[in-house]
Amino acid sequence: MNTPELASARPGPNDPCWCRSGLKYKKCHREADARSGGPAPRVRRVRPGRLSPPRTVPAEIPRPDYVPTGRPGPGIRGDPATRLERMRRACRAAAQVLQETGSRVAPGVTTDALDAVAHAAYIARGGYPSTLGYHGFKKSMCTSVNEVVVHGIPDDRPLEPGDIVNCDITIYLEGMHGDCSATFPVGEVDEAAKKLLRVTEEALMKGIEAVKPGREVRAIGQAIAAHAAANGLGVVRNYCGHGIGEIFHTELQIPHFDDAGATTVLEEGMIFTIEPMLTEGSWGVKHWNDGWTAVTADGLRSAQMEHTLLVTRGGAEILTLP
Ligand code: MF3
Ligand code: CO
Ligand code: CO
Repeated sequence: MNTPELASARPGPNDPCWCRSGLKYKKCHREADARSGGPAPRVRRVRPGRLSPPRTVPAEIPRPDYVPTGRPGPGIRGDPATRLERMRRACRAAAQVLQETGSRVAPGVTTDALDAVAHAAYIARGGYPSTLGYHGFKKSMCTSVNEVVVHGIPDDRPLEPGDIVNCDITIYLEGMHGDCSATFPVGEVDEAAKKLLRVTEEALMKGIEAVKPGREVRAIGQAIAAHAAANGLGVVRNYCGHGIGEIFHTELQIPHFDDAGATTVLEEGMIFTIEPMLTEGSWGVKHWNDGWTAVTADGLRSAQMEHTLLVTRGGAEILTLP
């Protein structure tokens, strides 16, 4: 059974105490917890933190059309003859930035420090952080911890052992956006978290395997939802995969649940993301008043994995591989 009380693991003896005293667990609440039958406040909700000052991008790096207004326009058309090559390079770069950023996930590292790593990695490749200035978003990636479903804003919260954190990376390079994300464990995580991460990744792969020209978009969500249900996990309905290319989010939506309305037929050459968010509990979300952060309504954890894909003659090619 999933209850909020099970949502976070008991710290190890040398881990920081859950009470944020900064002491080791064994020097702090361990004995009190043992007397009372377990770590007391098992529900450690993520709270909004402080944002660092804006990071800058060298003037010579080309910006998408929504910088600086925040409002996306029709996108900037490049040479159609090189479009696919440019998209491949943008997606490969995104995957590399994700790998680099994910490798820095560890207890004590703030999500803002991850943002700094990602920011430098985009620029090193000549790319612009697509999220920076997009509809007013102020950071270069999204970091979504524990019950945060999506669009978490990097801040001064240090990652804690037992957390899970999704790093969502989008680069604008050579006139194209490449978008991918993965959820990483922070130190040792409990078995339920391991399962959530594993099943979410499997669900993404099953969604990708469902892609075939001639099928409806609906087939993708059907495959994802079936795998989540078979493992007792929920699927978030409020956020979808999306068409992508010169434009960060096109009108094409890719639901991750079985949506009878998703009747668009898949065609060779289409490019879109699949980015399922699976939850330990129910799929309902609510929002912080920062205008971005979506959290599960029940406070249970959520994980997400994302790739950008090209529809090919026989199925799909994953573009966001390093
Ligand atoms: N990368 C996210 C996605 O997968 C979008 C982030 S937009 C932001 O679609 F503004 F929230 F950063
Ligand atoms: Co993304
Ligand atoms: Co996306």
